[in-house]
Amino acid sequence: MRLQNKIIVITGGATGIGRALVAELLPANTVISLDRNPEKIAALGTAFPQVHSIRTDITNDPEIKAALAAIARDFGRVDVLINNAGTGAQFDFADTGEEPLQGMLRREINTNYLAPVLLTHQALPLLKKSPSPVVVFVSSGLAYMPIASFAGYCASKAAMHAFALSLRHQLRKTNIQVVEVLPPTVDTDFNKGIQAPKMAPAVFAKAFLTQLERGKTSINIGQSKALSVFSRLLPGLAFKMLNR
Ligand SMILES: NC(=O)c1ccc[n+]([C@@H]2O[C@H](COP(=O)([O-])OP(=O)(O)OC[C@H]3O[C@@H](n4cnc5c(N)ncnc54)[C@H](OP(=O)(O)O)[C@@H]3O)[C@@H](O)[C@H]2O)c1
Repeated sequence: MRLQNKIIVITGGATGIGRALVAELLPANTVISLDRNPEKIAALGTAFPQVHSIRTDITNDPEIKAALAAIARDFGRVDVLINNAGTGAQFDFADTGEEPLQGMLRREINTNYLAPVLLTHQALPLLKKSPSPVVVFVSSGLAYMPIASFAGYCASKAAMHAFALSLRHQLRKTNIQVVEVLPPTVDTDFNKGIQAPKMAPAVFAKAFLTQLERGKTSINIGQSKALSVFSRLLPGLAFKMLNR
């Protein structure tokens, strides 16, 4: 697949990995970014005047419906849907109160799992209008093997990973391609406080899009490659190393 003249919808395109993908995909494609923060939307528009932004909280069903209706009206189809927006928090289970714990867990499962799955379902009519539709799930190497302090985040990405595998199978007789990409630790706001080697967002975006264009459907970049192999061969050791 050549990423040219495509109509591409991305969630969370205003910052981090999403923004790096927007930078790579423009100006060859039409890019529509679904973000919820007006200041970040404005900053994205200043940096990339060609981007189309629709203010959307991806966990809000009426907002998703309104965004897709606007895309149907203005663009008529979706060639590539990139489910990128995500959220995660660290917590100590025993030391966290009920209310904050519920808030974090619900936010993670709603944003990282339910929203991308439901958005994909609602976008199907627009994807079917494309000659070669692609749905991307931006998952995580931590879907294979959790970091215990990010328990809720890792569980939500594992749910996304399992769903992507099933969806690929369910859609195998259609022309809709289901792609899962597992980024390594990328230098974004998401893991600002974390001390670890981090890949630059632009480097990640280039590597991912190269593999997407080559038709790969399960894309591991950087450390995620090692993690996917290691977690299957030596799961106990992989867990210990991640949770030292
Ligand atoms: N960075 C890494 O090392 C890494 C590694 C593996 C996987 N990932 C995954 O990569 C994706 C992008 O992360 P990132 O590192 O680029 O982090 P980021 O800079 O924090 O970007 C996440 C984006 O998602 C948006 N978002 C969150 N909840 C949303 C909602 N309900 N509706 C609309 N937008 C929402 C955020 O906007 P707000 O500011 O409005 O919250 C933000 O713009 C995530 O799915 C993350 O899990 C990242």
